[in-house]
Amino acid sequence: MSRTESNRKHFRPPFGHREALYHRALPARRSGPLYSAFSYPTKISPEAIALFISAHTKPGDTVFDGFAGSGTTGVAALLCEDPPLTLRAEAQRLGLGTQWGARNAVLYELGALGAFVGRTLTNPPDPLAFRKAAEDILRVAEAEDGWMYAAKNPEGRSGVIRHVVWSDVLECPTCRRETTLWDSSVSLDPARIASLFTCGRCALEAPLDKVERVTQETHDCLLGTSRTLRLRCIGRIYGSTGNKSWSRDATQQDISLLNRIEVESIPDTVPRVAMPWGDLYRRGYHAGITHLHHLYTRRNLIVFGRLWQRTASYNAEVRDALRFWLLSYNASHATIMTRVVAKSGQRDLTPTSAQPGVLYVSGLPVEKNLILGLRRKLSTIARAFAVTHGRKGRVEVRQESSCRIHLPDGSVDYVFTDPPFGGNIPYAEINFINEAWLGRQTNRAEEIIVSNAQNKSVSEYQRLLTIALSEVRRILKPTGMTTLVFHSASAEIWNALRGAYTDAGFHLDCAGILDKTQGSFKQVTTNGAVRGDPVLLLTKRAPPDTKSASPVWTIAERLRQEAALTNDPSERSAQRLFSRLVGHFLARHQPIPVDADSFYRWYEERCADELSEGASS
Ligand SMILES: C[S@@+](CC[C@H](N)C(=O)[O-])C[C@H]1O[C@@H](n2cnc3c(N)ncnc32)[C@H](O)[C@@H]1O
Ligand SMILES: [Zn+2]
Repeated sequence: MSRTESNRKHFRPPFGHREALYHRALPARRSGPLYSAFSYPTKISPEAIALFISAHTKPGDTVFDGFAGSGTTGVAALLCEDPPLTLRAEAQRLGLGTQWGARNAVLYELGALGAFVGRTLTNPPDPLAFRKAAEDILRVAEAEDGWMYAAKNPEGRSGVIRHVVWSDVLECPTCRRETTLWDSSVSLDPARIASLFTCGRCALEAPLDKVERVTQETHDCLLGTSRTLRLRCIGRIYGSTGNKSWSRDATQQDISLLNRIEVESIPDTVPRVAMPWGDLYRRGYHAGITHLHHLYTRRNLIVFGRLWQRTASYNAEVRDALRFWLLSYNASHATIMTRVVAKSGQRDLTPTSAQPGVLYVSGLPVEKNLILGLRRKLSTIARAFAVTHGRKGRVEVRQESSCRIHLPDGSVDYVFTDPPFGGNIPYAEINFINEAWLGRQTNRAEEIIVSNAQNKSVSEYQRLLTIALSEVRRILKPTGMTTLVFHSASAEIWNALRGAYTDAGFHLDCAGILDKTQGSFKQVTTNGAVRGDPVLLLTKRAPPDTKSASPVWTIAERLRQEAALTNDPSERSAQRLFSRLVGHFLARHQPIPVDADSFYRWYEERCADELSEGASS
């Protein structure tokens, strides 16, 4: 027996599970109704979190998450009561020795949207009552507002708009001729969006960002003032008649329909609020967008506002579930942040959602048919509610800062959490659009983030994170553990995290990898582009002596060679190796010496050296 084999045999992790959870990369499925019900930046799969909870706790225990986002840790705690077969099988495959049964959870989330989503998903109404109410709402919307999406097919037969691709209007810098972005840059069959502008009159070719967008002055009837906005016109209309899809250019009838909508009044439910722009504001594509309603076409603003109005007549539980459903579609599919992409091998452009993590408005914004889209979304949400409804475990969600946790010392058995990763994502700014409809706000002053707009440096981020993690440590039982998921390409942010948990009194027990890009538990990764988020297991114990440091590139080379010996190709990717390197230094209580960029450069050079060594030998 080799030395490592004998070591492994004598290795006795707590609960007998640790090696399996932290030693090999753990796949985190990004699909299924619970994951897809409500998208949230950096969301983790509930099934993956359930594996951690099931292995670190027993039935009846209390789990805490201080950065709960959309409440996935709460959903995961509920899943432990009666786990789906795939989850049972995975726990068995890993040899976790799980005792299945209901766990309770307490979740803290600063954001109004996250807290609302988490609360609704973990405490939903009867899924049948929800589905009936949603179908009633869709039926009324169809009858009263369906005309706004009416359109004829190219043969003149009645049909319905599936989506409209709008287009910015550009002015040629040389001959001043106006043309649409659609006409100058889009080609179909195969679908392509060129990054060069070509003028149809003077044949000038210029990068698109050097070509001016035409603007127009309009009257804003909600504000009672005039405003300047980008001039947009219809690029193409996509519809269906019966079960046949079609697409065509705009006709006079489509313009008449828009004129009819122009005189429809805007419902009172539409929030009249200014956009509190922060880190995500861009002078170019956000020009003229000063208020929330500027992110919608008039048609979708009216349809969405009326749908929102119709939820008001239901009891609070059903109403919140209906609003959860509307918001799950709102910011990402109902606004002008919705986009088209040119996928390789496709004849036409593919409509997709808003780009996650930014508030980007493209030059070809998409206006989707909200009634059709919400009908499709309905069954995913009803299926998610059916999983979490009526479970015995209790999940309490509080919209509060985890810098002050209202729980007694030593009252929590286990913590699973993923704190904000430095300045990667300004959650409060992104979630503002949905929060405005809810009429609830996030207190940005308490947000743990690196942000220019909020004047928060890395040291302020570290200070706030230290306070929150100290609170987390305080409420943990003496033997309680914390699993913390984190991702950053910056050594400075990694060191801020390390400083925060060390100053909070935590000790890093071991580090693993959560592979959020995996399609399923069983799927084997085949390409090198796999990203893995490091997972840290923290304990309340005092840290043992620091082991001696080796130069970074010696360690990098050793990790590279170890990875070369595994038969898992994803272990050999630069991204995965950087995560392993981060884990190595954290486990030794040492600062992270390099950023991902320098590491990737070293990695490319090493691979190139190796190739040339191979070729010359
Ligand atoms: C990485 S996300 C968590 C995502 C979550 N795991 C999920 O699956 O949806 C981090 C969250 O921390 C929240 N946050 C930031 N500062 C906070 C604070 N002081 N207290 C509590 N939550 C905070 C952000 O609003 C954000 O939702
Ligand atoms: Zn020109």
